[in-house]
Amino acid sequence: VNRIDRIRDEERKYHEACYDNYRLFEEGSWLHKPVKIVMDLMAYFEGRRDLSVLDLGCGVGRNSIPLAEKLQGTHGKVVCVDLLEQALSKLISYSRIYHVEPHILPVQADIGDYPITPNEYDFIIAVSSLEHVKSKEILHQVLRDMAEGTKDDGIHCIIFNTNVKEVDIETKLCLEPSIEVNMTTSESMALLENHYEAWEKVNIFVKPLKFEIIRDGRPVLLTTDCITYTAKKATRTS
Ligand SMILES: C[S@@+](CC[C@H](N)C(=O)[O-])C[C@H]1O[C@@H](n2cnc3c(N)ncnc32)[C@H](O)[C@@H]1O
Repeated sequence: VNRIDRIRDEERKYHEACYDNYRLFEEGSWLHKPVKIVMDLMAYFEGRRDLSVLDLGCGVGRNSIPLAEKLQGTHGKVVCVDLLEQALSKLISYSRIYHVEPHILPVQADIGDYPITPNEYDFIIAVSSLEHVKSKEILHQVLRDMAEGTKDDGIHCIIFNTNVKEVDIETKLCLEPSIEVNMTTSESMALLENHYEAWEKVNIFVKPLKFEIIRDGRPVLLTTDCITYTAKKATRTS
């Protein structure tokens, strides 16, 4: 089994257990609440009747569902992309429970293969997902496609885990982190600064985070320096 297949298998097991064990918006996991900054950014689009949102690596809809709730009574849509069939089937059932089904468009795809339509979106979010494309080259391409896919004055909110470490809590042994693109914080920041050079920066910060997760039945401490990078596409003048 190659490195990517091994990581994806671990990630699938982790996410499937998480999505089975915790209901959306239930306390006790990261599924408890949407990301505040993502929701706050919707203030930029007040009054819009046709908002087009893309959620890359949407999971079961922790952000997509509350975003879709804000689109009720409009023609707005959230295109929800995830690799996992189980995440999308739960997303569909939550979209029924929360009465937002008409605004949710689920797509099963690898972010790295998903063709982002040029000039299509007002708001693109990628929360803890871009680090799961297969390589840095693909990451560059996805960032280019995201920019190309964004309308003037559109906004991106990327939450990107860097410097990820996994340690077995009992043996204290360092494990190989189950993450496809594990970059340092400074390299990631330089890459984002480069891609968003011409964009207006809205909010950028780094926050150290810790999670206890289960790998192969063992408790593991995962630490990361998590970058939140939010930028607005400047209106073209020519
Ligand atoms: C940490 S979860 C975050 C989910 C969601 N963004 C949220 O904030 O609740 C990462 C999600 O990305 C998905 N994912 C991982 N790699 C992916 C890829 N290459 N293409 C599409 N989705 C991917 C996983 O299946 C998982 O649902």
